[in-house]
Amino acid sequence: MKVQFELNGRLVQTESAPGSTLMEVLRSRELYSIKHGCDHGECGACTVLIDSKSVNACLILMHTVDGRKIETLENFSDHKSMHPIQKEFLHEGAAQCGYCTPGMILSVEALKRERVELDDFALRDALNGNLCRCTGYVKPVQAGLNALKIPQDKGGGGS
Ligand code: FES
Ligand code: FES
Repeated sequence: MKVQFELNGRLVQTESAPGSTLMEVLRSRELYSIKHGCDHGECGACTVLIDSKSVNACLILMHTVDGRKIETLENFSDHKSMHPIQKEFLHEGAAQCGYCTPGMILSVEALKRERVELDDFALRDALNGNLCRCTGYVKPVQAGLNALKIPQDKGGGGS
């Protein structure tokens, strides 16, 4: 099955086996910010943005991404500078093992792009699907709250 989509700003065509997931395909392209966690849509470690919405890539079958715009955390750093949300996570010490961190950052980014009322409740709701075994959530939530205050034109992509 041939699928064409935009991946981190580049047009991609791929031949995918029926039943293959977006998580499998992206990791096969060495996009390792996407973690192979639970494989069942429970942990959020495989979070990506599809058309600016955060989704669990392990639940997305490849045929459904045809014509869509996909972003992974690799889209947010040029290896010289960090995305402002990444800086907030660093500043707050919000990552320990870091396994959940890419997913959390993308969930915050998706929330910022929604331009809804951005408050503590909305942030906690947005991070609800990103499980973390290390931090107790206090520091990621603080980093996210800091990030929500950054004007979106300085907050990276999508707008
Ligand atoms: S690996 Fe996709 S939600 Fe856990
Ligand atoms: S920092 Fe280790 S799982 Fe979140």
